[in-house]
Amino acid sequence: MKNIKLAMPSLKDARMRKNKKIPTIRYHLDEKYQYLGKGKTYSIFTYGCQGNEADSEVMAGILEQIGYVKSLDAMNADIVILNTCAIRENAEQRIWGVLGQLKGKKRENPDMIVGICGCMPQEENATNKILESYDFIDLVFGTHNKQNLPRLIYEAYMTKSKVVEVISSEGEILEEAPKIRELHHKAWVNIMYGCDEFCTYCIVPYTRGKERSRAKEDIIQEVETLVESGYSEITLLGQNVNAYGKDLGSGYTFGDLLYDLDQTGIQRIRFTTSHPRDLDEKTMQAMHDCKSVMPHLHLPVQSGDNEILKKMNRKYTCEEYLSKVRRLKELVPDLALTTDIIVGFPNETEEQFQNTIKLVEAAEFEGAYTFIYSKREGTPAASMPDSISEQEKHERLTLLNQYINKGYLAGHQRFLNQIVEVLVDGPSKNGEGMMCGYTKHLKLTHFKSNDLSLVGKMVKVKITEAKTWFMIGELCE
Ligand code: SAH
Ligand code: SF4
Ligand code: F3S
Repeated sequence: MKNIKLAMPSLKDARMRKNKKIPTIRYHLDEKYQYLGKGKTYSIFTYGCQGNEADSEVMAGILEQIGYVKSLDAMNADIVILNTCAIRENAEQRIWGVLGQLKGKKRENPDMIVGICGCMPQEENATNKILESYDFIDLVFGTHNKQNLPRLIYEAYMTKSKVVEVISSEGEILEEAPKIRELHHKAWVNIMYGCDEFCTYCIVPYTRGKERSRAKEDIIQEVETLVESGYSEITLLGQNVNAYGKDLGSGYTFGDLLYDLDQTGIQRIRFTTSHPRDLDEKTMQAMHDCKSVMPHLHLPVQSGDNEILKKMNRKYTCEEYLSKVRRLKELVPDLALTTDIIVGFPNETEEQFQNTIKLVEAAEFEGAYTFIYSKREGTPAASMPDSISEQEKHERLTLLNQYINKGYLAGHQRFLNQIVEVLVDGPSKNGEGMMCGYTKHLKLTHFKSNDLSLVGKMVKVKITEAKTWFMIGELCE
């Protein structure tokens, strides 16, 4: 297939942070594309974080606006888009695997359009590999230009070529784009995009651009509309939500936003992700004061060793981390705390790993995402010497998970015989006649019921069993 390269990624450009105002763009559809998808179907496969899930909801909105309908057979739609994640090698491996399957589908149906977007194309290596070895892909675009989807599809149809447009700028703020939300009771709400932390292992500041906050008015209005449409829960999204507003320079912070959103009448507010350095007293106070802000905090620590934290450029010590946790638990005594941890950072010694285990015990986490360090081309850690064997790293992960799993169980056991409030998601995969949902503390709870009218409602459940991964309870009348 011929290539049309409208823009190619550059890690060098992606690393730049200029001191200029980030533009807000209001979505506008060119009439020319209005009926582009009429009579055709689409599907979107989403990988990675909630940021990607939110982006996929916008792409679905754009596709439906131009006439596409969601395909019932995801692998056989007229357009199939993979919204990808580049955070670790294994995330990428999975996507190369799915692309392999799609290659066969495209052979059966040459008119199908296959698109790849999200964080992977933002990497030079990945886009080069797509150009060299994945000839059947029609569309390659990134995280900064999903709003151009109609134009890119049009170009691909008209030219029968592979269209590549990956922009490595600091990004913009897209407002008023159409959106098809996946659920009708829980919603993602972006409050900021990008990341300026530059943790040395992480690719996100390169794939997502500069830290940029949405105007508070836009966020509050979005939440008010969600309340009017019957939503009960929102999750505020950003790579570092505690840095919200810093780029706007008005002095209005994440804590202020929580207080304001509490006034909208939304029943449950969650947020992810918090950075331990930027988590401030006002945010903690808001967690105490605002009824709608849920008593759960995901606060990635990454390592329990000060030297490793320094090499990671995390800008806090274990002592500072634990002191914030203590303060939080004073303000929110029943807080459920979860985290992210990386083992096997370049040259992490056994002693440094043991320090992580000690911190896990001290912080009493009730859950964690744990990872083996994965080298990301272009990041500072990729050139750090590393003499720890793969086997050693796997053993550390296994040991760490044993401690983490104890925390999961303890986090569930503390609710035994208590009555908790569950926002019902739907039928549970845990057996016939069961439904499930999450508690305020974000504990997955299953209970016996066939009543589909409960979906999206808050119910009271008495907890009768606590397992490692979930709780079981009985619906209270
Ligand atoms: N912005 C969030 C999380 C971003 S990515 C934060 O800073 O907390 C989610 C998690 O993936 C990170 O918290 C980290 O634990 C993990 N991660 C990121 N880059 C990684 C890498 N190169 N190898 C292994 N894990 C990584
Ligand atoms: Fe990555 Fe660090 Fe930014 Fe999180 S805060 S997205 S880990 S650079
Ligand atoms: Fe992955 Fe990009 Fe999110 S790398 S974790 S999809 S920001």
